[in-house]
Amino acid sequence: MTTAAPWKRWSAATAELDPPFAVLDRGAFEANAADLLRRAGGLPIRVASKSLRVRSIIEALLARPGFRGVLAYTLPEALWLSETCSDVVVGYPTADRGAIAALAASEPAAAEITLMVDDVAQLDLIDAVAAPATRPTIRVCLELDASWQAPPPLGRLGVWRSPLRTPEQVRALAEEVVRRPGFALAGLMGYEAQIAGVADRVPGRRAMNALVGWMKPRSGAELAARRAETVASVSQVADLEFVNGGGSGSVESTAGDGSVTEVAAGSALFAGHYFDSYASFSPAPATGFALSVVRKPRPDCATVLGGGWIASGPPGLDRVPRVVFPEGLRMVPREMAGEVQTPLEGQAARSLRVGDRVWLRHAKSGELSEHVDEFAVVDGSSVVDRIPTYRGEGKAFL
Ligand SMILES: Cc1ncc(COP(=O)(O)O)c(C=O)c1O
Repeated sequence: MTTAAPWKRWSAATAELDPPFAVLDRGAFEANAADLLRRAGGLPIRVASKSLRVRSIIEALLARPGFRGVLAYTLPEALWLSETCSDVVVGYPTADRGAIAALAASEPAAAEITLMVDDVAQLDLIDAVAAPATRPTIRVCLELDASWQAPPPLGRLGVWRSPLRTPEQVRALAEEVVRRPGFALAGLMGYEAQIAGVADRVPGRRAMNALVGWMKPRSGAELAARRAETVASVSQVADLEFVNGGGSGSVESTAGDGSVTEVAAGSALFAGHYFDSYASFSPAPATGFALSVVRKPRPDCATVLGGGWIASGPPGLDRVPRVVFPEGLRMVPREMAGEVQTPLEGQAARSLRVGDRVWLRHAKSGELSEHVDEFAVVDGSSVVDRIPTYRGEGKAFL
């Protein structure tokens, strides 16, 4: 953490607001953005929109030096963003026929949007929706599987994304893209989730931290060699505009890979609490949310309304919101963060009264935006802006 705990300041700034509401701390956000640029060492950062889900923030980042393009998560989102943002890569394949038809019907959108492919079936689906002769050229990016085949008993580490693992496999699809009318090969992406998305300084998990710390450089070295070979091979087929890799947890190692031309990142900006536990960086908490105490079942227990804003991924305590203020409150193990109410117990609960507020942090960064219509932007000790989330603009993409 680079700043003093902001909760009291947030409380003072938002005294007039009724929970539940979320804040975005401008100073912390700016510190996190500057730190991302430092870590990227001059390589452009493609903004991972899923980790923000606030259009005005994405637009503001793109206007700054050091940030270039969006890594969106669905094609409908990309179509919407492309009205105001340029260079939008959809980071995951799409099978949304209506959205493909909309893309094929719009020259401006087709010029700004790049679709992710890792299978001929995805090209066939696009052709089935809009035949090549009837549409503008569709830009595509090939995805390389960036997982690591670790020695036994560990086995495969990473996420199940692309079936394309070898340079030969990627090149074969590149040749198919180039051979087929109506497509242009724009880029290559490989997301090393086992490096970028796995925390390695989790309190109380020494053995696991050591294992993850052992794994990351080895996986990074394997991927750097395979990615370089893949880029060299695909470059004989087409000129790649970009080679994308990484995420918030791997910015410096991905940027150090000579075959990568840009790094994707988003989570480190809002800094959900999952991102407190990385050895390589310490983002300042830039987002949080306040809930109201609505009853006191015991003197040392205060129950807040709401709370169950659980993050995606393997269910576990690291996916649950963290209660940060007042200090010394804990969730009740048999209830944890509830759909409608969350009892919090501990000495600190004794001084909480009905109508007081409690501050929490979401585990992930962009998912908080799915629970609120807007962020109250806090600068210093006042609210200086209210900005809508995707949800506040009536958009729910996933
Ligand atoms: C393709 C891709 N790149 C990058 C990221 C990393 O984004 P963040 O910086 O938000 O962790 C993700 C996250 O899942 C991703 O799917």
